[in-house]
Amino acid sequence: MDIWKYFDITHKKHIICNPMSEVKLNGLFSLLNIKPGSKVLDVACGKGEPLVRLAELFNISGTGVDISPYFIKDCEKKKNERIPNSDIKLLEMDGAKYRPEINELFDLTMCIGASFVYNGFIGTIKALKKMTKPNGLIIIGEPYWLKEPDGEYLKMSGIKKEEYNSHYKNIDIGEKEGLNCIYTLASNHDDWDHYETLQWWSTYDYITANPNDPDNYELLNKINKAKMEYLLYGRDTLGWAIYVFKRWSRSI
Ligand SMILES: C[S@@+](CC[C@H](N)C(=O)[O-])C[C@H]1O[C@@H](n2cnc3c(N)ncnc32)[C@H](O)[C@@H]1O
Repeated sequence: MDIWKYFDITHKKHIICNPMSEVKLNGLFSLLNIKPGSKVLDVACGKGEPLVRLAELFNISGTGVDISPYFIKDCEKKKNERIPNSDIKLLEMDGAKYRPEINELFDLTMCIGASFVYNGFIGTIKALKKMTKPNGLIIIGEPYWLKEPDGEYLKMSGIKKEEYNSHYKNIDIGEKEGLNCIYTLASNHDDWDHYETLQWWSTYDYITANPNDPDNYELLNKINKAKMEYLLYGRDTLGWAIYVFKRWSRSI
């Protein structure tokens, strides 16, 4: 089935499409204290909640990029309902192909839960760093290993061990790239459970409401596999954190 249809169905009930609680994320946003008119880029912006929330809080000017036509439609709807007069641009495209206008730099760049766009965490750091103003901020949401992953988990999920790092290593990678990590926000079991189990619920709701969709068999197989991976291994193996890095204007 179409992958974006799959994510649209599984994330129907989500406001934030990553394993962080909305309340904790809002706490982080309110700490940012950005000046009105500041420029924000969100690569893989999902349903747009982070950008819209920042526009409500700080009247920022923003760009959101996402490859999913379903999510960009959700972003447009949310923008029209909550911040109709804001300066927020939404682009349906591959984030890897996005280039800012010549000489355009952002006060804040974000990529939350989509480092695969830049082939991993270090690639994401490098890509966002290039688009961030000196003294600007970079926010990245990324998984990390809580413990050595079981071989069965790697086999079942198709995740490669090298795909993720430890929490320490995620911060170290950013710092070795010349950034400083100034804040982290880690998910707990409640946050993860909310993110994962809401996908089960949305999927079963969809199948109930659309019993004749020819994709239902594949949909059910996929969600049941994801459910087993999470329950048997993922819940105790994979962590998730949002890292806030500062790009300095000069070396100190
Ligand atoms: C885990 S979700 C995170 C969404 C959002 N950042 C949030 O935290 O709510 C991953 C997002 O990456 C998007 N995505 C996947 N591949 C992409 C690509 N190549 N370019 C841009 N967006 C992509 C998906 O459509 C989805 O919205």
